[in-house]
Parts: sequence; C-alpha cells; structure tokens
Amino acid sequence: MTNITLEVNGTTKVLEVEPRRLLADVLRHEFGFSGVHIGCAHGACGCCTVHIDGVPRLSCLTFAVQCEGKAIQTVEGLGGPNAEHALQQAFKSEHGLQCGYCTPGFIMTLAPFVGEMAAQKRMPDEDEIREAMSGNVCRCTGYHGIVAAVRKAIGDQLAEGGK
Ligand code: FES
Ligand code: FES
Repeated sequence: MTNITLEVNGTTKVLEVEPRRLLADVLRHEFGFSGVHIGCAHGACGCCTVHIDGVPRLSCLTFAVQCEGKAIQTVEGLGGPNAEHALQQAFKSEHGLQCGYCTPGFIMTLAPFVGEMAAQKRMPDEDEIREAMSGNVCRCTGYHGIVAAVRKAIGDQLAEGGK
C-alpha cells in the first residue's frame, strides 16, 4: 500500500491505496464523486475524463499513485446546480444529452476547448468542434445536440465578454 495526497475539487485528500488502483475507482468509490463514469474501462469512450492539473485525462487509464501531489477536478468541481458551468447550461438548453451517461466526460473534455475559444474570441467551425470531442463516444444523441451545446456555450461566453 502507498500513501497518496491529492487535491480533489479544491480539497486535500489523503489515502492509502494499492499501486494498481485506478484514479477512476478512487474518485468514485473512495471519494464519492459519482460523476466520474466508467464506460469501456480501456481508454476508448471518454466517459471517465477528469482534469489533472487542468488537462483532460482518462481516469480509467491513470493509476491513482501517478497523481500524487496533483490537482484533480471532476464534473462536480466544474459546476453544479447552484453554479453551473456554461457548458452544463448549454447541454440542457440544446438537448446535448439523453441518458446522460457520457455527459460528464464530454463536459470535462470540452470545457477547456470552450475556454480556449472564448479566450481567442472566436467561434470554431463544426469540424473543429467535432475534432475537439472526437475522443468521446455518445450512443444516444447522434452528436448534433452536443455540437449545438458547444456553440451555445462559446457564444454565451463571447457575448458576456463583449458586455
Ligand atoms: S471508461 Fe475511460 S475511456 Fe472509457
Ligand atoms: S446521452 Fe446516452 S450515451 Fe450519450
């Protein structure tokens, strides 16, 4: 067993773990962040995406011990019912989800992209949006609502920046 210290959604967490334990399992089962969804468990679907030091990563392919001293953010840390991220609002308004199983992964993958586009003050074309989400799989929506949600979130941020 190994002791690790992580910062998860802004809170320091200390845990004794087996070196083989996956970050996805630790976040869900030890810390209770059930927004970390496990789909394929081998890096193919993107459901388990979280931010490690601000970068989207697949938590099903990451050992918890690799994250010693790092800052982890799950979808619960990005926003919630009382303070939704622009993408969370847009997924609702643009029908970017149906069953919702893939949704946390898409949001964690796309949040930095939305932020980057807003910082560049530009709206990406559809090919760029689809490229940005190409590592995530959704079995329900046909992706149109997700593309619309990304556009809406960026558009809202550009409008806010213009005020
Ligand atoms: S569960 Fe991690 S990529 Fe599918
Ligand atoms: S909304 Fe069901 S898998 Fe994407």
